[in-house]
Amino acid sequence: MSTTFSQEELSSVEALKAKYPEPKAAIMPVLWMAQKKWGWLSEDVMKEVARVMELPYAHVLGVASFYTMYFKKPMGKHHVQVCTNVSCMLRGGEALYRHAKERLGIGHNQATEDGKFSLEEVECMGACGGAPMIAVNETFYENCTQQTFDAVLDGCH
Ligand code: FES
Repeated sequence: MSTTFSQEELSSVEALKAKYPEPKAAIMPVLWMAQKKWGWLSEDVMKEVARVMELPYAHVLGVASFYTMYFKKPMGKHHVQVCTNVSCMLRGGEALYRHAKERLGIGHNQATEDGKFSLEEVECMGACGGAPMIAVNETFYENCTQQTFDAVLDGCH
């Protein structure tokens, strides 16, 4: 599979760079663009980001490694995050995470064999008022029970 941005995507990269006083500050949204396109950040993808950002590969690798939201290995089509931090823990987050592991048959930062789901135990995602919460890709589900968890996953195709 090609790991080269299209002309249209390159225009988006330039537009992102233009938003910052220092173009290299656009590295995070450009890494996010890359992850959306290729699903995860392989070495070749990070080299492409380095090329379009005119940054050393080591710099790109450093940023991608620091933030857990950037995947350094293939993850599922539906990435399920379960918060077990304090507010969520007090309202059943840990039991919900155990349920998630059992239902999916995988653990933290693992993907199902068919590539449909991956699972991540996460720290607070800033939705404590709706604890316990989960996220599937970029959609948040608050006040989540095991029943609503199952219903959300049943709706993932
Ligand atoms: S503790 Fe779970 S969202 Fe804040």
